[in-house]
Amino acid sequence: MKRWNLGVGAVLVSLALNGAQAAEIHDGHSHAAAVDGRTVLALAPDERAMILEEMRMFLAGVQKMTAALGRPDMPAVAEAARGMGQRMVHEVPPALRTKLPLEFRQLGFSVHRDFDQIALDAENMKDVSYSLNQLSGALQKCVSCHATYQIRSPALDGLHDKD
Ligand code: HEC
Repeated sequence: MKRWNLGVGAVLVSLALNGAQAAEIHDGHSHAAAVDGRTVLALAPDERAMILEEMRMFLAGVQKMTAALGRPDMPAVAEAARGMGQRMVHEVPPALRTKLPLEFRQLGFSVHRDFDQIALDAENMKDVSYSLNQLSGALQKCVSCHATYQIRSPALDGLHDKD
């Protein structure tokens, strides 16, 4: 009986917490939308599309890598990591290059380098925790770049204005 009561109490408390969390998340979002103070990279629509496509490849690669770490399958970890290494870097059109701050490009290159190192170490050490720590370090760079920059396409903004 007592157990049953505790169970209901726990459910109620967790419902209340979920409600509070939902409210917080909602507030957080509207606040973020109102003031996005991140540095703007003003790019043409095709340049923006090119960078975002690369970003989605990063996310897909991280998904592959974590799935391989969970099995664990270290050759597959290495393959997923290498896919996000220097191999992923294509020629950046000169017009785009001049629009990207040096720090932005350096951070991008260092993430690719990290993944090549992660691939080598996954093959040699076959140590899931070690690879996870390295992945976390690389993801920290994704987080810090995303906290610093946003991409805007003045051409696309113009289309919205006419709506
Ligand atoms: C050098 C800077 C930089 C690094 C490093 C970086 N990103 Fe991004 N990423 C951006 C920017 C800028 C955007 C656009 C953000 C915006 O406009 O709000 C973006 C957008 C994205 C998006 C959204 C794509 C879309 O289609 O809208 C994903 C997903 C993403 N990044 C994943 C990652 C992952 C995963 C990593 C690390 C493995 C990473 N990024 C590393 C700069 C970076």
